[in-house]
Amino acid sequence: MKVLITGITGMAGSHLADYLLAEVPNAQIYGTKRWRSQMKNVEHLTDKVALVDCDLTDGTACHELISKIRPDFVFHLAAQSFVPDSWKNPHATITDNITMQLNLFEAIRFSNLDPVIQVALSSEEYGKVYPDETPITESNPLRPLSPYAVSKVAQDMLAYQYHQSHGLRTIRTRTFNHEGPRRGEVFVTSNFAKQIAEIELGIKPAVLKVGNLSAQRDWTDVRDVVRGYWLAVNHCTPGEDYVIACGVPRTIQTMLDYLLSLSKEKIAIEVDPDRLRPSDVEILHGDATKFRRATGWEPVIPFEKMLEDLLNYWRDLLAGRKESIVSVK
Ligand code: GDD
Repeated sequence: MKVLITGITGMAGSHLADYLLAEVPNAQIYGTKRWRSQMKNVEHLTDKVALVDCDLTDGTACHELISKIRPDFVFHLAAQSFVPDSWKNPHATITDNITMQLNLFEAIRFSNLDPVIQVALSSEEYGKVYPDETPITESNPLRPLSPYAVSKVAQDMLAYQYHQSHGLRTIRTRTFNHEGPRRGEVFVTSNFAKQIAEIELGIKPAVLKVGNLSAQRDWTDVRDVVRGYWLAVNHCTPGEDYVIACGVPRTIQTMLDYLLSLSKEKIAIEVDPDRLRPSDVEILHGDATKFRRATGWEPVIPFEKMLEDLLNYWRDLLAGRKESIVSVK
């Protein structure tokens, strides 16, 4: 059984590879990377999975990729995924995120293959959510508030359309925020954890820079999410959309307070105006009933453990230890 993971060098992609290696022994895993991809999340995987150089914005390269690998399952995780970058360079986020998926779909359409394709979509698609519209289900209106969110709505609709027009077996997972070891340092949980680890090591003064602390997010551990992705390609209905979320909203302040409680340092908090967004998504609170019914999925890793593992990841990484990168149980 051949499994292709686009974006394997990212947090979710590398955890998905770990999960499949541990739980699906007959899976032959292929992952795409680009020449400029950071390799630290996959260094421990280089002798266990096939890492293939492929820039998915190149249509010809995508055709070659699909015709060579002939995957049974595709997890399409590759994307520009940091919301603020999409305001700085909207063209790149929108065109790259859409083009990569279009190239992949076209390559599959002309390949005579019929893989199940999980598409990593986002709770950001819901954007402007009013308090009486929560918890969010698949039928909530999509009111995107950033170019990134618009790119995800477009990916979502393309996955729907390619299923309707060409029968591609797309599974549309609208995943809410997910975190854990290997999370990119720009995202809020990881950024705060890294700052704390730097303060502990004396690399940085005891002042933690923050943006909007009143927004609410519904966080799930990435290791629960990737287990969900495997269940999704095995049990979900092609063409359908699914919310994946824990169902527990918390403010950014609550998350920060828990991270701070894990450290002995006395740390001051300072709002950095550069971290405030032109239009932030204020409430994300998901209802994953449809996904749970389809797959039996239940998240099992507590919020607290997710943050503890993330902080320890940064402590180890900054101290030059490798433990947290490789061992993520
Ligand atoms: N990044 C960041 N840095 N965010 C901050 C900060 C900070 O210093 N301070 C407060 N925030 C707030 C943001 O304003 C936002 O409300 C929230 O923390 C979460 O920000 P991120 O962690 O950057 O994630 P996101 O919610 O914008 O998007 C993530 O989740 C989506 C799923 O809902 C990304 O992973 C997306 O790619 C993903 O689709």
